[in-house]
Amino acid sequence: MPKQIHLAAHFPGVNNTTVWSDPRAGSHIEFESFVKLARTAERAKFDFFFLAEGLRLREQGGQIYDLDVVGRPDTFTVLAALAAVTEHLGLAGTINSTFNEPYEVARQFASLDHLSGGRAAWNVVTSWDAFTGENFRRGGFLAESDRYSRATQFLATAAELFDSWPAGAIVADQESGVFLADGSAGSFRHTDEHFDIAGRFNVPRSPQGRPVILQAGDSDAGREFAAATADAIFSRHGTLVEGQKFYADVKRRLPAYGRDRDSLKVLPAATFILGDTDAEAQEKAAVVRRQQVSGATAIKLLEQLWNRDLSSYDPDGPLPAIDPDVSDSHIAKGRASVRMHRDPVATAREWRAKAEAEKLSIRDLIVEVTNRQTFIGAPATIATEINDLVQQDAADGFILVPHVTPDGLDEFADTVVPLLQERGVFRTEYAGPTLRDHLGLALPR
Ligand SMILES: Cc1cc2nc3c(=O)[nH]c(=O)nc-3n(C[C@H](O)[C@H](O)[C@H](O)COP(=O)(O)O)c2cc1C
Repeated sequence: MPKQIHLAAHFPGVNNTTVWSDPRAGSHIEFESFVKLARTAERAKFDFFFLAEGLRLREQGGQIYDLDVVGRPDTFTVLAALAAVTEHLGLAGTINSTFNEPYEVARQFASLDHLSGGRAAWNVVTSWDAFTGENFRRGGFLAESDRYSRATQFLATAAELFDSWPAGAIVADQESGVFLADGSAGSFRHTDEHFDIAGRFNVPRSPQGRPVILQAGDSDAGREFAAATADAIFSRHGTLVEGQKFYADVKRRLPAYGRDRDSLKVLPAATFILGDTDAEAQEKAAVVRRQQVSGATAIKLLEQLWNRDLSSYDPDGPLPAIDPDVSDSHIAKGRASVRMHRDPVATAREWRAKAEAEKLSIRDLIVEVTNRQTFIGAPATIATEINDLVQQDAADGFILVPHVTPDGLDEFADTVVPLLQERGVFRTEYAGPTLRDHLGLALPR
């Protein structure tokens, strides 16, 4: 039996992939946009709909970064509204464990799981930066090294809250007037270095018991956290070799937690450009890349590595001869990607050498080195690639990131999904009502 593929739809928005300047692009705030993408994903029998989150508007050089989309509505509000207009689709929200409190977040996810009939998922992220913290009057309150320790305790505390209502706690026997089976409902006490809370949790046990847990960290600590606690990982490693390496790495960590291989799904982020033929798709992809990286964007992305004001440079000219500034304060604030440049000076040297060897301007270079387009081709080509990656254990499926809001998934739903279904590797109907059913995950004990 071939492995079954899992697919999710990432709502476009605050990222370098989304092209808001395209004439087809619509609002990323109006409810109709969320409904449109969610309904397309559900029509195509996707596992879930995914919302990313950033808790402060991004800045660069002290100014709002408005070359990408700016602003987004609150995750829980959007997902709760979507629960009412969808029936099967999982609803995944990214919620930070650094700036929230377990009681509040557990209430929100348990409520979403009730409202949606068992379709809630929580992507637990651990944003570290003091810049984001200022929004919460907690700038710098948590050292980077403590964020996974807090996340681990946060999730353990939330799990206690979810489990504090036994199944069958509500009897509601109208004749005898007995509402609860016994007096234990909701009772909890949790004490550790981050939390010291006790009381009674006020949301009864939800259909999935606990929301499905996603995790998106990439560091060693992040991978260990995922192996210990997550049902699925949202990763950056969508190519064959990198994907297989990441997949093997996180799956080998599972036995230490008494877990089997299938209990943690690996779902890399993936973009796609479809065409009638492979050649046409390649041409389209080149156009989309130039839309995603304007001259102004190229300079801003270069500044993120150099950590310097490079506004006087010509995007059609050569790379700066000076080296990056490696001081602690960073020109870009509120984005995760700046931390991916672990050794800026070495990376700058590589970029310069590549630009010189291939005669690339700043913009050409940035178009290439920031390229995250995963699948480019005719529908049959993309269906084959996705299936090969899954069958060869580079992934269990993909979280697809369309570049146009809200219609960017339509073509994929109409052309690639039927091919995967014909090949028997993707569902033609949902097997059950909950997201755990879609992902083949057991109910928590
Ligand atoms: C594919 C992917 C998507 C992510 N999306 C978000 C997001 O929407 N919001 C957020 O605050 N962090 C996001 N992150 C950041 C991570 O969840 C994590 O907090 C960060 O990578 C730092 O952890 P690490 O040092 O283990 O990588 C994402 C990371 C990855 C790999």
